[in-house]
Amino acid sequence: MRTSNPGERPAETRILVPESLDPSDPAIVLAAEFIRQGELVAFPTETVYGLGGDATSPEAVELIYAAKNRPSDNPIIVHVGAPGDIELVAYVRDPRVFALLDRFWPGPLSVVLPAKPCVRGAACRGLDTVAVRMPAHPIALALIRAAGLPIAAPSANLSGRPSPTTAAHVLEDLAGRIPVILDGGACRVGIESTVLDLAGETPQILRPGEVRPEEISEVLGVRVILARGEALARSPGTRYRHYSPRASVVLLGEQVSVNARMSLILQLAANALPGVKIGLLAQEAVPGMVSVPKVLSRTYSGVAGLSRCYYACLRELDAAAVDVVFVEGVADAEPVMERVRRSSSMQVLTDAEARSDQVLRDILSLLSN
Ligand code: TXA
Ligand code: MG
Repeated sequence: MRTSNPGERPAETRILVPESLDPSDPAIVLAAEFIRQGELVAFPTETVYGLGGDATSPEAVELIYAAKNRPSDNPIIVHVGAPGDIELVAYVRDPRVFALLDRFWPGPLSVVLPAKPCVRGAACRGLDTVAVRMPAHPIALALIRAAGLPIAAPSANLSGRPSPTTAAHVLEDLAGRIPVILDGGACRVGIESTVLDLAGETPQILRPGEVRPEEISEVLGVRVILARGEALARSPGTRYRHYSPRASVVLLGEQVSVNARMSLILQLAANALPGVKIGLLAQEAVPGMVSVPKVLSRTYSGVAGLSRCYYACLRELDAAAVDVVFVEGVADAEPVMERVRRSSSMQVLTDAEARSDQVLRDILSLLSN
């Protein structure tokens, strides 16, 4: 196998599996060397895989945008290896920030604060704020510490594709585009970190994640809400269509009964062209569906189960050349439902809608596009 060394353009993408979590592990040492040389390394975090480069180097950050085809004005989260290292890249003026870090770091919380000059021209794309997080995955922490640098890392997918939760997903999108992937198995959370904006007048959540608004409110002593409208537009990432598989996603709201759902899918299977394949992602296998050859069902258990498997299921159903994926809505699962809404082409919210001819026609027309 031809592989590249730090400093050379990647010929092939090398997958390295660390044998220990020691910073002296050969895989970690080599990956850290790539980062120090200004090259990119994909690595596991507890949320999703990240595509990392030196957060203070405009050239390394440029490579990240090129590898992902990422819109050039969307800033990147900076990953640090210890809570105190936040001050390498951000100004922390409010002591409550440290209380937050005490409670949630390492973990899936990114905080947006005024940026220090060393990252403004690189990871921040000229913004005067920076999003920072200390990931909880031991391989991520070992890599950051061995590199001795803050690491800028967006999700390691091609822009617009579902975020990767295994090394195989990263390879699917970025083979030949990056030199190294550190393989740490499947990610525990499965969706990206909560992004909390602490740079404005009032703290606001720009992206929901596993760390919930109520938990943050408790520590800060003020009610923290999800940003909407103009405030949300401050997070550049929200301007782009995200998380899209090749298949069209149809969200079936929590109000849609199992019967209405079944009748919609059976009607669709009966009316669609012969080659059409339908995917279904639901908590429980729907009786009667198994026998419909056009329908591929995937099940999971609980909210955490849906978050963990959502992106992976979209990729799997894409690989099976499914044309439309129905996703069952789940209560009390805002973070993952936000991703479902953002990847969906259509939302069917009531029983009556699910049983209407118009909805059936709309879905058939999605299929013919
Ligand atoms: O869980 C995660 O956060 C993963 C892992 C790899 O850490 N990373 C991730 O990065 O999801 P990315 O680039 O795919 O999403 C970062 C989000 C984007 O929506 C971006 O616009 C927003 O954070 N963001 C980054 N810097 C920001 C800033 N200074 N102000 C506001 N939003 C910012
Ligand atoms: Mg992303």
